[in-house]
Amino acid sequence: MKFFAINGSPRPKCNTAQLLDKALEGVKSVFPDADAERINLYDFPFHGCKSCFACKIVNGKHYGRCVQNDDLKPILDEIVEADGVILGSPIYFSDVTGNMRCFLERFMFPFVAYSKIETVEHKKMPIAYIYTMNASEEVSHQIGYHDLHNHFEMGLSMVFTKPEHLYVYETYQFKDYSKYVSDAFDEKERRQIRKTRFPKDLESAFEIGKKIAIQAEQHD
Ligand SMILES: Cc1cc2nc3c(=O)[nH]c(=O)nc-3n(C[C@H](O)[C@H](O)[C@H](O)COP(=O)(O)O)c2cc1C
Repeated sequence: MKFFAINGSPRPKCNTAQLLDKALEGVKSVFPDADAERINLYDFPFHGCKSCFACKIVNGKHYGRCVQNDDLKPILDEIVEADGVILGSPIYFSDVTGNMRCFLERFMFPFVAYSKIETVEHKKMPIAYIYTMNASEEVSHQIGYHDLHNHFEMGLSMVFTKPEHLYVYETYQFKDYSKYVSDAFDEKERRQIRKTRFPKDLESAFEIGKKIAIQAEQHD
């Protein structure tokens, strides 16, 4: 079986990446022989959907498939055939990062049929989403992050399956806060959260990975 974790953070070793790796460990706890790979979306150049509509041409040979031929193409071709996908992104200006957005356009749009009768045959694998952010849980509710993301997850639900999700708040953003202008944050408090809450977040990510693996088994 094949599972992917898609890292929408430009930082390949930070919060989002660590949580995604834990989720893949969760997958492996169910399927030790599964192929579980993390893709870092900032490791290679690619664009979002170019609105070419090749994926929607009547009797087109690429109907329901993205034809954009760049570094994402071979990876995307594998991801759409996966048994489960775990997406992860930091929140940038209340949304997922730019590269994650570009990825999602390419991941989802070819499978959206512009028809009342026709559908696009594709694998409906289980999906999870891990969001990481500076905001506290309280602030994230005040700003309405959850509503925004619910809206965005509707797309994933329509095309694939209703995603499992995990919100990770008040992440530790720098190795050394004293080097940056960052007095808006209480470094001591953040360090404490890192020590006490982040390990629990990692456990939750592990559990999400397990869930995706179990759901994948039921899909088979
Ligand atoms: C350009 C940029 C914009 C950000 N915007 C937000 C935001 O709107 N809300 C928030 O809570 N955190 C915001 N953050 C903080 C990140 O979401 C947070 O530090 C995240 O956990 C980083 O993930 P990483 O460690 O995997 O890179 C922003 C960070 C950057 C660099």
